[in-house]
Amino acid sequence: MTKKILVTRHVYPEAIELLQGCGELEYHDSSSGLDRDTMLRAVADKQAVVCQLTDPMDAEVMDAAPELKVIANVAVGFDNIDVAAATERGIVVSNTPGVLTDTTADFAFTLLMAAARRVTEAERFLRDGRWQQWEIDMFSGQDINHHTLGIYGLGRIGRCMARRATGFDMRVIYHDAVRADYDEQLGLKFVDKETLFRESDFVSIHVPLNDETRHCVGAPELALMKPTAILINTSRGPVVDELALAQALAEKRIAGAGLDVYENEPTVSPELLALDNLVMAPHIASASVKTRTRMCVMAAENAAAVINGERPPNPVNPEVL
Ligand code: DGY
Repeated sequence: MTKKILVTRHVYPEAIELLQGCGELEYHDSSSGLDRDTMLRAVADKQAVVCQLTDPMDAEVMDAAPELKVIANVAVGFDNIDVAAATERGIVVSNTPGVLTDTTADFAFTLLMAAARRVTEAERFLRDGRWQQWEIDMFSGQDINHHTLGIYGLGRIGRCMARRATGFDMRVIYHDAVRADYDEQLGLKFVDKETLFRESDFVSIHVPLNDETRHCVGAPELALMKPTAILINTSRGPVVDELALAQALAEKRIAGAGLDVYENEPTVSPELLALDNLVMAPHIASASVKTRTRMCVMAAENAAAVINGERPPNPVNPEVL
């Protein structure tokens, strides 16, 4: 029997080429995604769905898809998918770990540097024609070299961020639910959460979004930070209490922030938009052509493996296999 595959949004063509060889494809080659009713109808006869972080894949969608075997997310994060509901129904969920690690860490470091040296603020000033003369304290920012980077969540991306920091002669401390046994080898120091926020000149967040991490950086954590410190978030928006952050930035209780992710994407709260001491990007940390292509291909490989009766390379809930 021919397998039916749904691709919910535009992906790089290499993924489509791969999937075309595996079954009958319903490809929605657009960035706007499917409205709820269309999604519920589209999944009805599919064995595989290749979706993105903007597609909520909940129990209702799964119940509308009695033949569904795999949900292949084109992202390493999978908080858009109800994994427990998928597991209950024997549906494999897969993600795209590894391929985006370096690219995402590069971008987290880009935000760190841009926020520290006030790059976007200075550019706005220049483009607005406001630059009249060289001034000794014009756009003076924070030094990166020989300062302390605090990594909150020492997963793949957090470790990569730590490696980048050593090139800037930074001291690196980290906090995670469990201490890594290799940390000293990498020159990293494990600290408790409070110490991380209190001692760091830069805090970079690298935890997944789940019930434990939602708003795990809020007013109490921000109150611990130095007035010269900078917060970087490339993980998921709801990990940070956005309004508490906006308030801390507006009152200059911390020096700055660099954000790639937001609580209600693509809406960004006006409180954040009004701030100068904040560098913002529209969730693009993994967006290099090479990496995004690899993510699409990896999701396609996961979907293809499951519908061909093979073990997918990146299951999130391997217990269903
Ligand atoms: C992910 O993969 O989870 C990112 O947020 C998008 O690359």
